[in-house]
Amino acid sequence: MQDLNIRNATDSDLPRLCALRDARAQHEAKLLEATVGTSRFLVAVSGLELVGFASVHIRQPLTAAPKSHVPKLSDCLVGPAYRSLGIGRALVAARECIVRDAGCEQLYVSLDPVENAWWLQFFLRRGYRTLQDAPFRKKEFRHLSGRIETVEVWRQDLVINLRA
Ligand SMILES: CC(C)(COP(=O)(O)OP(=O)(O)OC[C@H]1O[C@@H](n2cnc3c(N)ncnc32)[C@H](O)[C@@H]1OP(=O)(O)O)[C@@H](O)C(=O)NCCC(=O)NCCS
Repeated sequence: MQDLNIRNATDSDLPRLCALRDARAQHEAKLLEATVGTSRFLVAVSGLELVGFASVHIRQPLTAAPKSHVPKLSDCLVGPAYRSLGIGRALVAARECIVRDAGCEQLYVSLDPVENAWWLQFFLRRGYRTLQDAPFRKKEFRHLSGRIETVEVWRQDLVINLRA
């Protein structure tokens, strides 16, 4: 996508973030963590459209449960009409740059290798390697239409050496 701009999310993005995912409390928590500097919360913008968002934990969060690993990519979403155009890749590359510039050597990501097999293949092509021999089951919170539900998902953790 030619006119894609990736920048920090701001409070004024909240209505358009909620249009992408109806989870205002989650977006507000991510804006707060970004303000205190434990994470970065990015949006992808094309023209007047907010087409995606993604965050990265640089240090352990202050307002949420500790992460299994930091720094860690988190929660990347591209609007359904804009998928498979390279926006997800651009959001990953932008967050890798942020973590590299912060002086970190490694970067982690945790994903669902069953529901999102091609997203796993994308990270493997980029040089990430899996931390476990096989996927494992994990309970986590999911924001669905303004509600928070506990779901059991498949997970696999991956890591990349940013200095390699
Ligand atoms: C996962 C998601 C963020 C990817 O964003 P995207 O903009 O659609 O992805 P991109 O177009 O940047 O493609 C990324 C890579 O996947 C490949 N890809 C894209 N769509 C694909 C598809 N439908 N099937 C297989 N591979 C695909 C691309 O070729 C690219 O790989 P490459 O860089 O090696 O060529 C997006 O699909 C999404 O929001 N899905 C729903 C939410 C989700 O599952 N998020 C991930 C978990 S947090």
